[in-house]
Amino acid sequence: MSLSPSLWTIPVSDSDAAAIVSRAQVLFERLRGIVSQHQNVRLASSMAAEDMVVIDAIARTGVPISVFTLDTLRLHSQSVALIDEVSRHYGLVIERVLPDAARVDDYVRHFGVNGFYESVEAKEACCHVRKVLPLARALEGASAWVTGQRRGQGVTRSALALREFDAPRGIDKFNPLHDWSEEDVWAYIHFRHVPFNPLYREGYASIGCDPCTRPVKAGENLRAGRWWWLQEDSKECGLHVQK
Ligand code: ADX
Ligand code: SF4
Repeated sequence: MSLSPSLWTIPVSDSDAAAIVSRAQVLFERLRGIVSQHQNVRLASSMAAEDMVVIDAIARTGVPISVFTLDTLRLHSQSVALIDEVSRHYGLVIERVLPDAARVDDYVRHFGVNGFYESVEAKEACCHVRKVLPLARALEGASAWVTGQRRGQGVTRSALALREFDAPRGIDKFNPLHDWSEEDVWAYIHFRHVPFNPLYREGYASIGCDPCTRPVKAGENLRAGRWWWLQEDSKECGLHVQK
């Protein structure tokens, strides 16, 4: 018998096919609604399970939503491999947005390569260089953007709405899975045979950069393995915080 507490495992859903299809129809209508109001819509995808559901829905509906991923250069090799696998699987372009090399050099000189463990300031500075500034570039010229965020992802997201206004950029931001549960996401993935990151099979319930993500135990908060050394209310990387 193992003495170590068991890790989180991919949830098994009791949804039947009709329930999955009907939730999917609502998702498809949300995406069609977004593109009916906006010309230039972009999905921010970290290739998380939620993003894979949205990508599958984009491919099935054919809605003109382009996809980008912020490659921080600190992603797990499994996440990087998934970018190419998904592009091939769906025959779509996933734009890979990299951080500015000179800014990364400055960060490393100032804080050290893994300086983010030392203070909240150092963590925020790293996310700023590797995620927030590249996001600003990725969204230049966009009239709206889409995320895979859900309310169940923690205290900072419990009141998430389908539609938000990204005030600093002056554009709409949509969270079409805001009201989906973790089980809903995995039911869709299994039902539609959607590709997903193999790290989920190793107890990673939420996946970000390699040095800032670890597996979680069964029953723990889904994002407990993200920046595990920080308090729950500071577990945002700045992509979704409007300052
Ligand atoms: S984070 O802010 O803590 O990193 P999280 O990993 O929960 O975010 O992902 C929430 C949503 O933010 C994803 O569904 C995706 O829309 C967007 N996102 C997060 N990380 C990235 C990334 N590296 N590239 C593109 N989008 C991302
Ligand atoms: Fe840097 Fe970690 Fe933020 Fe990735 S998640 S950008 S490695 S602090």
